[in-house]
Amino acid sequence: MNIPDSGMAPDQILETLRSFKGGDADYKSGRIFAYTFFPGDEADAVIKQAYMLYLDENGLDPTSFPSLVKLETEVVRFVADLLRGGPDAVGNFTTGGTESIMLAVKTARDFARAAKPHITRPEVVFPRTAHCAFYKACEYLGLTPVVADFDPRTFRADVDSMRSLITDNTILLMASAPSYAQGVVDPIAEIGRLALEKDLLFHVDACMGGIMLSFLRQMPGYDIPDFDFSVPGVTSISADMHKFGYAAKGASTVVYRSKALRRHQIFANTQSTTYALVNATLLSSKPGGPMAGAWAVSRFLGRQGYEKMFESLMQATRTLVQGINATGDLFVLGKPEMCLLSFASDTINVFQLQDELARRGWYVQPQFSTPLSPHNLHITVTWPNVPNAQAFVDELPAAIQAVKDSPAKIDINTVRAQVKAMLDSFGDDAIAQLSAMAGVSGADMPKDMALISSILDALPKHMSEALLKDFINDLFV
Ligand SMILES: Cc1ncc(COP(=O)(O)O)c(C=O)c1O
Repeated sequence: MNIPDSGMAPDQILETLRSFKGGDADYKSGRIFAYTFFPGDEADAVIKQAYMLYLDENGLDPTSFPSLVKLETEVVRFVADLLRGGPDAVGNFTTGGTESIMLAVKTARDFARAAKPHITRPEVVFPRTAHCAFYKACEYLGLTPVVADFDPRTFRADVDSMRSLITDNTILLMASAPSYAQGVVDPIAEIGRLALEKDLLFHVDACMGGIMLSFLRQMPGYDIPDFDFSVPGVTSISADMHKFGYAAKGASTVVYRSKALRRHQIFANTQSTTYALVNATLLSSKPGGPMAGAWAVSRFLGRQGYEKMFESLMQATRTLVQGINATGDLFVLGKPEMCLLSFASDTINVFQLQDELARRGWYVQPQFSTPLSPHNLHITVTWPNVPNAQAFVDELPAAIQAVKDSPAKIDINTVRAQVKAMLDSFGDDAIAQLSAMAGVSGADMPKDMALISSILDALPKHMSEALLKDFINDLFV
């Protein structure tokens, strides 16, 4: 047992916890282009206090803590109104985008069980640009994911491909506003028409864009395509407060066009010897802190606060897009609609550029190739990045040159050929050899990630997934 016999002093506990953070990403530095959505010290302080006010309450029983119902209702109403849901729209507060998506997919499954009982092997159709959470929802809920193509130039869903994959077993269509990877909004209106024509539910994943795109839509100078409940055929939308709503983590919403549909989300049980249970979302004991934090930040920022932040994010994004395209070696993929973007290269292995940028104190995120897209690097522009966008652009030429001058160049095509040769000779046993080649062992990660990323990129998906599972299985106790 690794707890002390007698309790530690509070100061010592907090000091120890602070010391644990030494190796963590410095998200306030403005040099990390992923993972956190820090809204600045002032907003952060308000969120923290609101969160702590609700540290102990429990949303398990809405009749015992009616103030949690009020907080949830007001946050969901804020989002539903932004998404033009009208008076009939309803929704719930969840722990994150993944839960919101999981619930929307579960709702579609249970709606289909009731309305289309002849379907015994339900399928969900979405483009490859959809977030992995859709594959996860299908895996957890016993549904078959059916993956459609996207336009390799625009990175928008190929609606003809989606149409061609609809069968008698299809229960749900899904698209993104925007996709995480390239920040591109799918042709929601067209997919909405397809959903209506085929009598299917249609979920829009606006985890990233639900709040920001809704504000941009109403601001001068932005031409945001309709992606919300104003589009006929859209039946549910996920929109995260803990991304560009600026709430603390554990805060998302899932919104439905009607109460009749949302009913399929709710779980009730009176069969156990315990208390009668009824849960709208996945959690049973449900923390109040994330709701209070989300409520507080929306009140603290107000419309003007959000607009000001989003305008700055868009300016920084324009700086980055122009600067990246101006390098001559890198090009931005598709036309990002908000402040998420990705870039690739025909001249260097961008996974090596990621390592080079890391040596210079920047974090950008590797994304793998697909049959229709090259391997690339992702950037999510957040508030602390705003003053650093130009500095990043200024540093790019030197970082690119360093990759070109590197004596240990990793050619992605050579790695692909080597991986293929190993697979041909060793089959599934190649995994162990490849792990050794990449230098991966449990929590002991090498500093340079380019070779690992290049190998993962080259592997068949079932093998890269197996490798990643082994890594995580070794990482945790
Ligand atoms: C478009 C999109 N959908 C869903 C998710 C999953 O959200 P979460 O990480 O909050 O579960 C993300 C996360 O980045 C996302 O970008």
